[in-house]
Amino acid sequence: MTHGHSWQVAEATVARMQLAPVPLITFASTMRFQLDALLDPQGLDNLLEDLLSAQAEWRPGQESAGWHARGVKHNRQLDRGSPLHQRLAARVIATLEAHPLLQAAALPVRIHGLLFSRCGPGEGYGRHVDNAFMAGGRADVSFTLFLQDPSAYSGGGLMLESPAGEEEVRLAAGSAIVYPSTLLHRVAPVTGGERFVAVGWIQSRVRDADQRELLFDLDTARRQLFQREGKSEAFDLISRSYSNLLRRWGD
Ligand SMILES: [Fe+2]
Repeated sequence: MTHGHSWQVAEATVARMQLAPVPLITFASTMRFQLDALLDPQGLDNLLEDLLSAQAEWRPGQESAGWHARGVKHNRQLDRGSPLHQRLAARVIATLEAHPLLQAAALPVRIHGLLFSRCGPGEGYGRHVDNAFMAGGRADVSFTLFLQDPSAYSGGGLMLESPAGEEEVRLAAGSAIVYPSTLLHRVAPVTGGERFVAVGWIQSRVRDADQRELLFDLDTARRQLFQREGKSEAFDLISRSYSNLLRRWGD
C-alpha cells in the first residue's frame, strides 16, 4: 500500500477533480472517487496467484444476487465460505479501512460483503442497482477493486449511470472506484481474456449521498484552510459546521 502518508489536501483536490460533473438541475450525488495503488504489484501478483490456485473454489455469481438481478448476472465468485476467501477478503478490507481518503469521503462504519469475481468471454453483469441491505449491513457506497490491468481482458468495463449518461470505468490493477450504491450500473460483457475484481460495500455513517458529498466538501475545505493559515477563525467555523452536520446526519 502506498498511502502511508496522512490524508493531504493535494489528494483531496485530485479526488475532487476526478468527480464526474454534477448537473445543476439536480443534486442527486453521483460522487465517485478513485483510490490508486491500493495494492502493490507484488501483493497483486500473490493475490492473483492465490485466486488461480487449485484451492480456489468458484461458484456461480447468481447465488449472491438479489432476485431482480439474478437473471442478468453472469460471473463466478470465490467461495465465500472458504479459508482462502476469508484470508484475502480480510486483507483487502484492512487496506481500504486504512485509506485516509476513503475514511474522509465514505465515512465507513463497516466494509462488508466483499467478494472476488471473475468474468470470462461472454460473461458480465447486466444493468442493476445493488441491494440496500445485505447480510453484513446497509450498502451506502459500492466499490470495485481492479485486480488486473485493462490490457489483460477486453470489454468488461464497469458502466456507471448518471443523469449525464453512462461512464465506463476500467482502472489499472490495484486501483479502486468508489461510488454511491444508489446508482444503476452494469458490467459490460467480457469479449476476451478474463476480468478479476474484488467488489464490496460500505455502510457509511451518513446514508445519504448528497449529505456525504457536502461533508466531504467541508472537510476538504477546512483541511486546505488549515494548511494555508493554521487554526484560524475561519477554520474553526468550518470545523464546527462539519462536526455539527455530522452529528445531525450521522448514525
Ligand atoms: Fe452491482
